[in-house]
Amino acid sequence: MQDDGPKVNVRVWDLPTRLFHWTLVGLVAASLITGKLGPMHLHQASGLAILALILFRLAWGFVGGTHARFADFVKGPRAAFDYLKGRAYYIGHNPLGGLMVLALLALLPLQATLGLFGNDDISYDAPLSKFISKSASDAATGWHGLSFKLILVLVALHVGAAFYYLIARKDNLIRPMISGWKSLPASLAHHQAEMGHPLLAAGLLAVAGLAAGGLLLL
Ligand code: HEM
Repeated sequence: MQDDGPKVNVRVWDLPTRLFHWTLVGLVAASLITGKLGPMHLHQASGLAILALILFRLAWGFVGGTHARFADFVKGPRAAFDYLKGRAYYIGHNPLGGLMVLALLALLPLQATLGLFGNDDISYDAPLSKFISKSASDAATGWHGLSFKLILVLVALHVGAAFYYLIARKDNLIRPMISGWKSLPASLAHHQAEMGHPLLAAGLLAVAGLAAGGLLLL
């Protein structure tokens, strides 16, 4: 639904959600580089950090700010259809963007988990590979490579969509993910989104970090 009328700035994304997003971008880039060039202990560290971050985000999807919650953006196909037809306006993620978020939040931990069972056939055996046979570890390594390609496709679609909205629809979704504030039609000026508490986020992140780091002790 296009609205070319007056706009107001409204706070939409809380700080933990924004920090989550841009830290994730950095860690995915770090994983890509260290996966290609090594060293493997840094690749392992960035993979575990991604796992911790996603565990945090899954919990944040229940107790975070209004628009970070799954209840706010996980919608059925009908909502996606209505959105495509231009019949609905969304302040947080639209139903299609929400599907992409879910896909990334599912695939990234799968990717990290497969990596934890892998090996590089030279000098590196991932921490959990000792619990499975060499052939199963080789298979996990193969799937790790395959799911990585899928993630690259999703990221390309995701970033492409963000720039499509920016250029073709003149709707800047990137700036709100940085500043937290979104420019909305003036008719939505009354909108009050709850922001998740940063201390709660810090606590959840600490627990998620301990859980992911604890895998090294197995
Ligand atoms: C420069 C690259 C990127 C840009 C410009 C970008 C932009 C954005 C924007 C604008 C949103 C909010 C969409 C909306 O308003 O509904 C978003 C959300 C999201 N992006 Fe990205 N993104 C980038 C890279 C990535 C990468 C590499 C990943 C992961 C592999 C990623 C994962 C996510 C996730 C999981 C969310 C949901 C955030 C949340 O609700 O917590 N993004 N991104």
